[in-house]
Amino acid sequence: IAKQMFPGGQFGWMITRYEDAVEVLKDNRFIKDMKKIYGPGSQSVFTNNMLFADPPDHRRLRGLVQQAFTPKLIEGMRDHIQQIADTLLDAVEGRDRLELIDDYAFPLPIIVISEILGVPIEDQDKFRTWSNSIIGASNSQGGDDVHRHMQEFTQYLGDWFEKVRHDPGDDLISQLIVAEESGERLSEQEIYGVVSLLIIAGHETTVNLIGNGVISLLQHPDQLRKLQEQPELIKGAIEEMLRYNGPVEFSTSRWAGEDLEFRGHAMKKGDLVVVALDSADRDGAQFDDPDLFDITRERSRHLAFGHGIHMCLGAPLARLEGEIAVNTLLRRFPNIRLREDAGELEWRPGMIVRGVKEIP
Ligand code: HEM
Repeated sequence: IAKQMFPGGQFGWMITRYEDAVEVLKDNRFIKDMKKIYGPGSQSVFTNNMLFADPPDHRRLRGLVQQAFTPKLIEGMRDHIQQIADTLLDAVEGRDRLELIDDYAFPLPIIVISEILGVPIEDQDKFRTWSNSIIGASNSQGGDDVHRHMQEFTQYLGDWFEKVRHDPGDDLISQLIVAEESGERLSEQEIYGVVSLLIIAGHETTVNLIGNGVISLLQHPDQLRKLQEQPELIKGAIEEMLRYNGPVEFSTSRWAGEDLEFRGHAMKKGDLVVVALDSADRDGAQFDDPDLFDITRERSRHLAFGHGIHMCLGAPLARLEGEIAVNTLLRRFPNIRLREDAGELEWRPGMIVRGVKEIP
């Protein structure tokens, strides 16, 4: 538990040990609704959702979309996701080089989340620009660009919602709009918040489960071989990829909701608290030989999807996409390797999302 300066010049607490991380993530004295700390003007359209809410709002907002992401429903998408993976690889068949992120790891989850939401897949480049910009992962864009991208994204969503109001389908956005129109269960602002969160989460995370996971395999040829010989090990392998090289490096912000004491540290109301998930997942007090990448590791209870009430809603979907993406890639490209002239892998900038720009 260390007090330190965060980007933006704010002091806050960084939690790096597994046990402390679990405690913070389930302790409701640490809150997520920034309005309670900074006042009503502090929220943007993109934070009007469950990830930035405390109970009871949190339960209501999560409840509205939860039924679309249950393990049973997601498992029902297996054949379709398999088809998407095969179609993407058909397109590169016969080429001697593949750029794993752009050709495969990025489009696969985007196609899936676009279909669930009912937004046009042809707009995926716009979504990518906007979500990269909002998550702050792209260095090349300055503050003005971020502001402009937020406006464009909001405008796009507003136009789309209008279209759906007139012609609803059986997608998730249509269901949210019907829920808004039929009662008090969520406001229009909350629809913006929830939909943009799903688009951003769908764009920024699973791509790096696939990317970081394949890197881990390529860097550990014995584990790669093991998985190629026993593809049925994939479920455990995905959990180890999440633990060893997790796609979300730090939790989103929490704040001490009151003056409090946590493990001997006095924290003031409003203090920023961030959990270093990837660090906790390499804590030797929790994991034997934590820096070893072992796809047969016994049930590892990692924190890659967080913990407590904000634990990732998309985890069943991300796991299934990861399983299918990695096993299909290994089956169809058994001699896969990094290109000799690839050079050092370049990690994307930014604090929350952890992934590489390209895997040649
Ligand atoms: C929350 C990780 C994929 C939707 C979270 C949190 C983490 C996380 C760590 C909690 C953040 C915190 O407590 O501060 C991941 C990883 C993914 C992934 C590692 C891929 C491997 C997805 C996908 C979706 C999604 C595909 C949606 C389609 C959400 C939502 C929340 C969330 C809605 C907020 C839940 C709440 O506040 O109750 N995710 N995520 N995630 N994730 Fe994911």
